[in-house]
Amino acid sequence: MEYKQLIHKLDKERMPKHIAIIMDGNGRWADLHKTKRVNGHKEGVKTVRSIVETAVEIGLPYLTVYAFSTENWRRSNTEVSYLLKLIVDSLVKEIDELIKNNVNIRFIGSKEELAKNYHKKVLETCQKSWINTGLHLNVAMNYGGRRELVDAFNLIIEDIQSGKITSKIDDELLSNYLYTAKMPDPDLIIRTSGEERLSNFLIWQSAYSEFWFTKTMWPDFSREEFIRSILDFQNRKRRYGSRGEN
Ligand code: IPE
Ligand code: IPE
Ligand code: MG
Repeated sequence: MEYKQLIHKLDKERMPKHIAIIMDGNGRWADLHKTKRVNGHKEGVKTVRSIVETAVEIGLPYLTVYAFSTENWRRSNTEVSYLLKLIVDSLVKEIDELIKNNVNIRFIGSKEELAKNYHKKVLETCQKSWINTGLHLNVAMNYGGRRELVDAFNLIIEDIQSGKITSKIDDELLSNYLYTAKMPDPDLIIRTSGEERLSNFLIWQSAYSEFWFTKTMWPDFSREEFIRSILDFQNRKRRYGSRGEN
C-alpha cells in the first residue's frame, strides 16, 4: 500500500506519544552489498532523515534513536571514529532543516569518554532548536541504560547530601534524574535487523513498552514499514497488569 494511504489508516485517538528505535543492521547491510561497514552507516543516516520527516508528518511528540551505545567503543578505532564524526557532521548538516520543521533536538547519554570539543559542537548546534515545540528528537549517543541509572543514583546521592532531597526515593523521583526526565516513557520500541534484544537501551523506561521487531536492516527501513509498525501497535491491548477491561 502507498505511504499516504497507510498514514490515512492511522487512528488519531491511539497515537503513540513516544517511539524509540534501535537502528541495527548497518554492518550486515554493507556486507550484503559487498561494501565497507562505514558505507552501511552512511546509508543509515538517510533512513534517519526519512523517519524523522515521517515522525514530523504524523505529529509524533517524541522520537528517540539509538545512535551509539556505551558498548560500541568495543569496535575498531576506525569504525568508532567514523561513527562519531558521522553523527556530528549529520547533525550540523541537518540542523537548519530540522529547525524549519519545528524539531527540538537533544543528545542523551553519558558525557564521559567523549571529547570536550565534541560536546561543545553538539550542544551549540542543538541549542538553536530548543525553542521549537514540534517533534522532540532524542539522539542516544554514548548511551547505556545501566550508565543512565548509575548516573542518576550518583546525582541523587549528591542531592540527599546537600539536603535538596528530603523524601524517600520513588519511581517519579528516579525518573526525574534520568536523561529522559519529564519525557513520557516509550510506547513502542522498534528494532531492525532481526535481533530481538534491548542491548542496554532505555531499560527503566521500557518497563511497559510494546516491541516491534523486523528483519529489515536499518538502511532499508522505509516510511511504509514505520507506519505499519504504528498500525500494529494500535491494534494491541495494553493491560499494565490489569484484567484489561479499560
Ligand atoms: C547499527 O548497525 C549501528 C550502530 C550500532 C552504531 P551495526 O553497525 O550494529 O550493524 P550490524 O549489527 O553489525 O549489522
Ligand atoms: C545496539 O546495536 C546499539 C545501537 C543501535 C546504537 P548493537 O549492534 O551495538 O547491539 P548488539 O551488540 O548486537 O547487542
Ligand atoms: Mg548491530
